[in-house]
Formats: sequence, structure tokens, C-alpha cells
Amino acid sequence: MNRYRIAPSILSADFARLGEEVRAVIDAGADWIHFDVMDNHYVPNLTVGPMVCQALRPHARTADGQRVPIDVHLMIQPVDALAGAFIDAGADLVSFHPDASTHVHRSIQAIKARGCQVGLVFNPATPLDVLDWVIEDLDLILIMSVNPGFGGQSFIDSALRKVEQARRRIEVCGKDIRLEVDGGIKADNIRRVADAGADTFVAGSAIFGKPDYKAVIDQMRAALV
Ligand code: DX5
Ligand code: ZN
Repeated sequence: MNRYRIAPSILSADFARLGEEVRAVIDAGADWIHFDVMDNHYVPNLTVGPMVCQALRPHARTADGQRVPIDVHLMIQPVDALAGAFIDAGADLVSFHPDASTHVHRSIQAIKARGCQVGLVFNPATPLDVLDWVIEDLDLILIMSVNPGFGGQSFIDSALRKVEQARRRIEVCGKDIRLEVDGGIKADNIRRVADAGADTFVAGSAIFGKPDYKAVIDQMRAALV
């Protein structure tokens, strides 16, 4: 099985029918469910909390009963208490922005100690330097290719350079760390993002904005072959 993962972001789903939307996108071939948490403080938008994650957890399964990871992207400040609440709510991965936590190393350890996978997220203008000190503790690095807060924005090209740098750091570290990219990903640019070194792709409006989710996911996979 190839290493690429497609993670539809429910930010662009129909919030009045979220369980159905999660099942539909999994039936269409989604590998992960990307769950965007915004607090109207760290980012200028407000979404959903742990109760919604918990309500969706039973829906995040394939037709033959396999668990589909819920990939929680925290755009919140402070981080620690809500990170724990999302782990209780069934998150499989919890990622946070290092600039949103006063004690990044502590936040990472707290998430890992709960048996959850942990990721760090880098905004378009945020350097990767913190990785010098914590990369070995991570399961995931998430590069933002838009400014966080909204779906449907255009891909920022400098993210490609950052993905290349992050890939080099992962190689040097030698650990099995996923490299995810979030924002403005479509079937027509996913190949470039993969060529820069990404293996996991968040896509919100590109998938949920279209009537046929499977057609879009199939196009993305075809571009990745
Ligand atoms: C933005 C979110 C993204 C968003 C991506 O802050 O983190 O996950 O849903 O949406 P698209 O794919 O539409 O850019
Ligand atoms: Zn996201």
C-alpha cells in the first residue's frame, strides 16, 4: 500500500449533516478525517469542540468496520486542557501550533503520555526551528499552505520550500514522521506538494465543495501515482 494519505477537512462539510458527511467521504476513499478546531482567539473563526469529535467518532469507520483516524488540528490557545479533552473524545492524532503553547515540549509530552499521536503545525511565516529540539518526539509535522482560519483559500507557494525543508529534517532524524500539508490543495496541485516531500494531504473545499467526493479523491490519487 502506498504511503500517501488523503485527509478531507470537515470544515467545508455540511455541518447540519456531519455524521453523514464523514461516512460519505470515507466511502469515497478518505484515509483520515481532518477535524479543524478554531477558537476565535488564535484564529479569527470559531468551529467545534470535543463533544462534536466524540459524536463523530462512531461514524469514522470504513464499511468493514476499520477505524479511520480522526486528525485533530487545534487552532486554539491555550493548548493543553483542550488537547486532553480531544483525546478523551476519541482523537487519534492531535496537532497544535507551537506559537500557541507557552511550553511546547510539555504540551507534546502531555499528548504522548495519553497514548495519542502528536503533531506540530507551522503557519506560512513560522520557521521550523523548534524542530531542532522536539522532532524526535513527533508523529506528524503539518505545514500550513494558507493562513489558518478559513477554508477555500489559495495555496501559498512558499509552503513548498518549507515542505522540502521539513522532509530533509525528517530524513536526518530517521524517525517515521508523517508530513502533512493543509490549505488550498486540489487535484491539480497535489502532485507538486507530493514532489516537495509531503505524504499526507488535507483538502476541504476541493472535496466537500464538489457533488461527487469519490471523483475528486480518485483524481487526487491518480495525480499521486
Ligand atoms: C484552515 C484549515 C484547513 C481548511 C482547508 O485553517 O486548517 O484544514 O479546512 O481548507 P481548503 O482545503 O479549502 O483550503
Ligand atoms: Zn486544518
